[in-house]
Amino acid sequence: MPSINKNIDNVGVGFASFFTPPPPDVIRFTVGQPDFVTPEVIRNEAIKSLENGETFYTRQPGSESLCESVATYLKNSFNINTSMDRILIAPGCKQTILYSLMGLGNPGEEVMLLSPSWATYDAQIKLLGMTPIHVPVKRDNYHPDFEAMEAAVSDKTTMILINSPNNPTGAVYTPDELERIIKFAEKNDLWILSDEIYATMTWVDWPHISPSTLPGGFERTIVIGGWSKSWAMTGWRLGFVTGPENAMNALFKCHANAATHVPTFLMPAAELALSCHDEVATMTDAFRKRREKVMEELTGIKGINVPTPEGAFYVLMDVTKTGMDDMTFAKRALEEARVHLIPGSLMEKGEGLVRISYATSIENIEEGCKRLKNWLNNL
Ligand SMILES: Cc1ncc(COP(=O)(O)O)c(C=O)c1O
Repeated sequence: MPSINKNIDNVGVGFASFFTPPPPDVIRFTVGQPDFVTPEVIRNEAIKSLENGETFYTRQPGSESLCESVATYLKNSFNINTSMDRILIAPGCKQTILYSLMGLGNPGEEVMLLSPSWATYDAQIKLLGMTPIHVPVKRDNYHPDFEAMEAAVSDKTTMILINSPNNPTGAVYTPDELERIIKFAEKNDLWILSDEIYATMTWVDWPHISPSTLPGGFERTIVIGGWSKSWAMTGWRLGFVTGPENAMNALFKCHANAATHVPTFLMPAAELALSCHDEVATMTDAFRKRREKVMEELTGIKGINVPTPEGAFYVLMDVTKTGMDDMTFAKRALEEARVHLIPGSLMEKGEGLVRISYATSIENIEEGCKRLKNWLNNL
């Protein structure tokens, strides 16, 4: 019999089983995607492109005009210095992470993750024959633990993959922490893969900062982002990546041989989205209000501890004081409170934690938290 990739058995499928819609009486706090339909003006632009017959092969990294617009957007929004010829548009941020690992890593090398971290990182690293090193973040605020990072790094480590604002923890790393991450990367000669997909969603006093904009960061940072979260375009499968020239040349090769380019008729709509500031602001405001609501509702619930969610649309609750492990907690919350949650054990270093996605209506947040409160207070 022909064999299969020997790494496949070690690779999980993340939260896949939790994405099946639960029965209608259940409040769903599992799905990490905006509940908004993509703004109409963006949808109409894609329809127009199709009607204009934009159905042919085109420039592989993305149309010149789209790549120019992404470079301008990154400069104006986050002070990221890049240029059109160092931008790559790929089918989702997920795929740009895969290209970064493929293009810059080698089998046998180690990639450091600050965990719990988005489950796809672990899977992609293993698929490529590399080893994820899961360094736990601090348990009280989910920020990097530099001592633990120093202890875990080895000669085989060639990359550190960070994600701020973070899924699943909701942490937003401070400028000081990002500077320390760069120093750590310089000392150990690491690439920094910086997944900034939630860049527009910060709820704290410090802004989102890309390590590529800090001293020493530019030469070794790959900036990863995309349209899924900020523009409510998850189903469009559009992501972007930029970095120094030598790295981007490697990523261009991966993309040219894996996908050629993203659908031609989606490119004008992706470009238009970048100027839809009002639409993005409306959705961001909604998330800000939902985050306040979820914090208000979760405060004082017996047995759960909730470090302040600083960004993205997630709350990661510590449920250890309930006496239940996270799997049991999520199972019983579904059966007894009719609330669907993600147990942290689906991610390395996530034991004892349970994730709420508050990308849902205020009414759902109120009702879901009320159910959790009643359930836990009556146990
Ligand atoms: C941290 C993080 N990165 C990347 C992605 C995926 O982005 P995309 O839809 O662009 O592939 C997600 C989606 O949940 C995410 O949480």
